[in-house]
Formats: sequence, structure tokens, C-alpha cells
Amino acid sequence: MVVLIGPMGVGKSTIGELLAERLGVGYRDTDEDIVAAEGRAIADIFVEDGEPAFRALEKQAVRQALAEHEGVLALGGGAILDADTRALLAGQRVVYLSMDVEEAVRRTGLNAARPLLAVNPRKQWRELMEARRHLYEEVATAVVPTDGRTPEEVTRAALDALELKEA
Ligand code: S3P
Repeated sequence: MVVLIGPMGVGKSTIGELLAERLGVGYRDTDEDIVAAEGRAIADIFVEDGEPAFRALEKQAVRQALAEHEGVLALGGGAILDADTRALLAGQRVVYLSMDVEEAVRRTGLNAARPLLAVNPRKQWRELMEARRHLYEEVATAVVPTDGRTPEEVTRAALDALELKEA
């Protein structure tokens, strides 16, 4: 199992799918698990039930995926806010995909599907990262910067960082 963490928009799904393909394993994404189980978009869960309700669903989805999945698993950007989730990640291979604020704004833009960045993306992203950077670093076994790199380059860097061979 390889777990991908990092802020929204950093490319966890794109890199996760490429990494899984290169390793010849399956790809899974806890945001997708939540959407499938709830039959609603993440933005709708935030609006209708609030963030704490979403975090509870997310915590359960991460626990279940970590127990079941054997390939590459991408977590939602805020999953590491939960201390129990961080404890579950200890002992796993965890890749933190990082990027700077300008890259973040370029990639996420004014994407309404990301409720946490909907109003002032640059300011909100900075604040999120100030609260989260140390948590990403705490659980990561490898940090892979993505700034100015293509998905293929990031995937290669992740494989190198993990010292994993392609299938
Ligand atoms: C969130 C990130 C999103 C999604 C939700 C909250 C966050 O996932 O779980 O909008 O708190 O950073 P991605 O990182 O996959 O966009």
C-alpha cells in the first residue's frame, strides 16, 4: 500500500492513478468512496450537513480503505487533521505531494467543487497550509514537490522516493 496525502488540487488523483498503473496495482480515493456511499457531492455534504459531519464520514472512509485496500490510496486533503487517522498512517508508506501557493491557485482556481477554497483561494490556501503543513510532514515517509513538474515527472519522483520498481 502507498498512501498519497497533500492539499487539494496538488494532483493526488492524477498521480495516484499513474502510480497505480506503474506499480500494477489498484487505485482508490477516499473522497470517491464518500461520494459513492452518500450519493452526494462533497460540496453538498459540506453545505447540507456541515464540515464536522463530513470529517466523521471521512474518518470512517479512511479507516475502511486502509484496512481493505492493497494498492495506491489517495486521501482527501483534510484527512490528516484527525489524530486517530494520523495514528493509523504510522507504519504505512505515505507520500506527501507538496506545492507552493502560486501553483495551488493556478491549479485550483475558483473551483466551486472545493468548498474550502471558494471565496478567496490564495488567502484560504495559505491559512489551510499553515494549519496543516506540519501534519502532512509528521505522517509522511517521503515528500515529493510537484511545482513545475508534469504528472509523469511527479510519479517518477514518487517511485524514486519510495525506491519502488515499476511492474
Ligand atoms: C478537503 C479536500 C478535498 C475534500 C474536501 C475537503 C480539505 O479533497 O475532501 O473538499 O479539507 O482539504 P481533495 O484534497 O481530494 O481535493
